[in-house]
Amino acid sequence: RIAYVNGQYVRHADAGVHIEDRGYQFGDGVYEVCEVRDGRLIDEPRHLARLWRSLAELKIAPPLGEAALKIVLRETVRRNRVRDGIVYLQVTRGVARRDHYFPADAAPALVVTSRSADRAKADAMAEAGVKVITVPENRWPRVDIKSIGLLPNVLAKQQAKEAGAREAWFVDGEGRVTEGGSTNAWIVTAEGVIVTRPADDGILRGVTRAAVFDMAEQLQMRIEERPFTVEEARRAKEAFNTAATAIVTPVIAIDGAPVGDSKPGPVALGLRRRFHEFAH
Ligand code: PDD
Repeated sequence: RIAYVNGQYVRHADAGVHIEDRGYQFGDGVYEVCEVRDGRLIDEPRHLARLWRSLAELKIAPPLGEAALKIVLRETVRRNRVRDGIVYLQVTRGVARRDHYFPADAAPALVVTSRSADRAKADAMAEAGVKVITVPENRWPRVDIKSIGLLPNVLAKQQAKEAGAREAWFVDGEGRVTEGGSTNAWIVTAEGVIVTRPADDGILRGVTRAAVFDMAEQLQMRIEERPFTVEEARRAKEAFNTAATAIVTPVIAIDGAPVGDSKPGPVALGLRRRFHEFAH
């Protein structure tokens, strides 16, 4: 395997960053995960737009121009011979003597990796559906920035795993679901309306989420942006998660209680099966 590290392609096993990289010391960086399917990067413009926004919010200079970054992403995918999988990119503020203030002279550091994923296995998991648990929202208010500081997400997802679930849904102080540890959260109501929390309200603006909105619009499905409670989700006909790594993954149980008939529903499965007709 090959990784791109600050201008060079190196063997993945030998790739490293400096011990005083601010990503390592402070979690001072941002990232993106883009799906690779049939060798193509899915929704790349939206991922790059979000990356630029995350960088701007943290006042980190882009390490490369957009055209150059696109070439690096493709080259990393190509060198790893990834046909179906993901490409991961991470930008940190760079290497500097440990001091909280922004360094005056550090250059941002860029790492890109890519790996294959087993499409059949992922599809099988989605067709079976996944379980989620709920956990209190304990993240900072700037979750709209795709920061590499993911400790609450790591702890929540580990808790889910230990409970035999795949994902943890964060729940705000009013009992409403914000999003998953690494996914956006959705339900389908008894009336067949697809519901997800507004993009400007305590969630990451998922690229897959945006693609599902486009898709629902084109297929003339009813879709609504509003918060929903855990209570409403338990009574919903369907629930599902979205992310570049999950596409659309049906949720069949919340905190051990079944959703709908505890099988993946037709809306979620339909969105998943047709996703790549709409996302490019
Ligand atoms: N996670 N919400 C959170 C907290 C996420 O970390 C992610 C993605 C999403 C979905 O965003 P998108 O549709 O753009 O992938 C929502 C990535 C995949 C990860 O951390 O691995």
